[in-house]
Amino acid sequence: MPITYDSDNRIFKLDTANSSYVFEIFEQNYLVHLYYGGKIPDANLKEHKYKGGFASFSPVNINIDDDWFSPDVSMFEFPCEGSGDFRESAFAIRNPDGNNTTDMRYVSHEIYNGKPKLEGLPSLFVNDESEAQTLEILTRDNVTGIQAVLYYTVFEELGAMTRSVRIINPTSKPFEIERLLSCCVDFNTHDFDMITLYGKWFKERSVDRMHLSHLTQGISSKRGSSSHHHNPFGVICDRDATEDTGNVYGFNFVYSGNFTFKAQVDGFAGTRVLMGLNPDAFGWILEAGEDFVAPEVVMVYSDKGLGEMSRTFHKLYRKHLIRGKWANIKRPLLINNWEATGMDFTGDKLVTFAERAKELGIDMLVMDDGWFGRRDDDTSSLGDWQVNEEKLGGSLSSFIDRINELGIKFGIWFEPEMISRDSELYRAHPDWCIHVPNREKSIARHQYVLDYSRKEVRDYIYSLMYDVLSRNKIDYVKWDFNRNLSEVGSAGFPPEKQKEIFHRFTLGTYEILDRLTTDFPDILLEGCSGGGGRYDPGMLYYAPQIWCSDNTDPIERLTIQFGTSMCYPASTMGAHVSASNRAGYETKGNIALWGTFGYELDPNKFSDEEREIVRDQVGEYHKYYDIIHSGDLYRLITPFENPWRAAWMFVSEDKNEALVTSVTMRRPEDRSYFLRLKGLDEEKYYVDDESGEVYSGALLMKAGLSFSRYGMNDGDSFKVYLRAL
Ligand code: GLA
Repeated sequence: MPITYDSDNRIFKLDTANSSYVFEIFEQNYLVHLYYGGKIPDANLKEHKYKGGFASFSPVNINIDDDWFSPDVSMFEFPCEGSGDFRESAFAIRNPDGNNTTDMRYVSHEIYNGKPKLEGLPSLFVNDESEAQTLEILTRDNVTGIQAVLYYTVFEELGAMTRSVRIINPTSKPFEIERLLSCCVDFNTHDFDMITLYGKWFKERSVDRMHLSHLTQGISSKRGSSSHHHNPFGVICDRDATEDTGNVYGFNFVYSGNFTFKAQVDGFAGTRVLMGLNPDAFGWILEAGEDFVAPEVVMVYSDKGLGEMSRTFHKLYRKHLIRGKWANIKRPLLINNWEATGMDFTGDKLVTFAERAKELGIDMLVMDDGWFGRRDDDTSSLGDWQVNEEKLGGSLSSFIDRINELGIKFGIWFEPEMISRDSELYRAHPDWCIHVPNREKSIARHQYVLDYSRKEVRDYIYSLMYDVLSRNKIDYVKWDFNRNLSEVGSAGFPPEKQKEIFHRFTLGTYEILDRLTTDFPDILLEGCSGGGGRYDPGMLYYAPQIWCSDNTDPIERLTIQFGTSMCYPASTMGAHVSASNRAGYETKGNIALWGTFGYELDPNKFSDEEREIVRDQVGEYHKYYDIIHSGDLYRLITPFENPWRAAWMFVSEDKNEALVTSVTMRRPEDRSYFLRLKGLDEEKYYVDDESGEVYSGALLMKAGLSFSRYGMNDGDSFKVYLRAL
C-alpha cells in the first residue's frame, strides 16, 4: 500500500518506488510535516515524531504543555495566516468579521484507490484505479468553521505525487480567499540549490541555478498566462546534485495562468517550498455553501539527479497527463506556412505547398494565421472567425478538398481568446474584452484579450469555432495566444469580484478547450503562445503538443529544447525545420527530430539536393518516432554548461535501441571526441547501424563512443543509431 496510516502514532506515510513523504497529526490536531526524501522501509517512525520547538518572540500554543510549541518553528502541511507562523503561508482567508486569522486543524481522513478529477481544471488522471492512491484530509478552523480538504495522490511506480486543496464554506456567511497555494513542503535544512526556467519571447526556458539563501526567493507570473518569462516549474536539490547524482525535488504546476514558486529560508535553517496560484493577482469570494478548488502541483523526487527527475516527469506526463486519441497513436508530420508566407498567401499558393509536401512524404499542411475576416496583417480581424473565401479562392471546404485530394491532411490556426481593435466583433461588443472602467486599454499586437470570464463571450467564440470545425474536414488546430493581460477587469462581475477575473479567465479558457476536445476528439490540438509562452501541464492536458518557440534557429533551439526537457517530454515539443541558415538542413533536422518534427518553410524553394535530404529526414522521422516519443531521454552535454557542443540521446525502455545526437555549436578545443553514453545495458553489445561496428554497453558508457570521425565545424551535427545484438 503506497499510503499508510499508523493510528497508534498518528503518522501518515506516502511511499513511491523511490521516495517517502511522512507527516503526523500532532497534539491539538496540528498537521506537522516530518520527512520527504529517499524511500525508508520502516513502518514504525515513532522515534521521528515531532518533539516540539520553541522560539523567543514567537507565540506558543498555550494548550500544549507550557510553552514548547511555537508554530513559527514547526514544519506544517498547510500553514495559514495569523496564528503564530510568520513564514509565508499557504492559505489566507478574510473572515466575515474582517480579520484574516485562521488555524486549520485535522478533522478526519480517507484513503482510497484512484485519483479524483478536479472540477473545471486540468489534472493528472489514472487509466485504472490501481495506478494511484489518494489521501484526503479534512481540516477545519474551529472558530470560523471554514474547511480545507488536502489531497495527496501517490503514483507509486513513478516516484511522483500530486497535491491540491479544496476550500469549503459550510457557514452562512461569505469569506474571501486571499491566498491559496496548492503545495507546501517544509524541509529542516537549507543546504539546497534552486533551479528554475527563465526566458522571454524567442528565448524560452533557459536553466537558472542558485544557492538558497536566507531570504524568500522564487519565480512567478502575473501576466494571465504561465508565460515565456518563467515556467511554472522549479527544482529544489542538493547543492552538489548533478545530472546523475543527488537528491532532487521537482515541482510543476498544472495551470496556465498566474503562479508562484518560492523557497523561504528561515533563521532556523529550515526551508519552506510553496507553489500555487500567485496571491498578488488573485482573490475569490467564497459564498455560503460554496467551495473552491486550487489547481494541482506535481511533485517528483529523484535520488539520481536531474536526469532521472526529468525522465520521471516525461513518463508521468505521457501516461497520466496527455489524453485522447493522440496520446498513443502516431502524430502526423506537418508543414506550416507561417514562416514562409506570413499572412500573404492564397489558396493556390498553399496548394503548391501541399503538392511538394506530398512528393516529400509529409502528412499534413497547416494553414496558419490570415485565413479569416480581412486579416492580411496583424492589425485586424481576431474575433471575426469567418473564412476569407476571396483569399482561399473558394469555400474552406473546397480548398480543403484540393489539399485532401493530394493525400494531405489539413490543419488550421485559431487565436480564440483574442479580439482585434479593428474587428466586427469589437465594434459590436466593445465591452467583451478584458478592461477596467474609465481607463485606456493597453494594446499589444493591435489586439485586446477577450473576457473569457463571461459565458456569453465564450459561447459566442466557441459557436464560431464549432461552425468552422464541424463543417470542414479539419484534422489539426493550432491554438495561439499572442499577448498578456493588462488592466484586468470584467464588465460581467461586480467590483468585489474583480480580483477573481484572472483565474476566471483561465477557467474560461479551460472550459472552451474542454468543449473543443470533447466535441472533436479526433482533432490534434497544438498549443502555442508566441511560441512557448504557455508551455505548461495545464495546456498539455488538452493539447498533446505545444509549439516550443517562435525561434527556429537550430543553435538557439538547443538551449530552448534542453530547458524544456527539464520536465516536458519530447513528444510534446513542437519543433520544425525552418529556412533559418545558421546550419544546414541535416543539422536542422537532427535538432527538430528531438520534438514532434515538421517543416516551417516554402517547400517550393528546395534545391534538388535539399529535397533529397528532406526525403531522408522524413524516413528518419518514421524510423526514430517510437524511440523519441516513448524512450528515455539522457542529456549528455548541455549547452548551458558547454560552449562548444550539445549532445543527447534516447534509449528505448528495453535498452535495446539508442539514438545519440551531437551538435557542434563552436569549433571545440578537444583533439578527439569520445562521448560517454548513458542508460544502456553494460552487459549488452550494440551495433552502430551505419558503420556496423559493435561495442559493449560498458565501453560506450565508460570509454565513450568515438565521434572523432565526424566534422567539427560550427553547425555540424551527427547522430548514431545503436541496436542491441
Ligand atoms: C504566433 C505563433 C506563430 C504564428 C503567429 C501567427 O507568433 O507563435 O507560430 O502562428 O503567431 O500570427
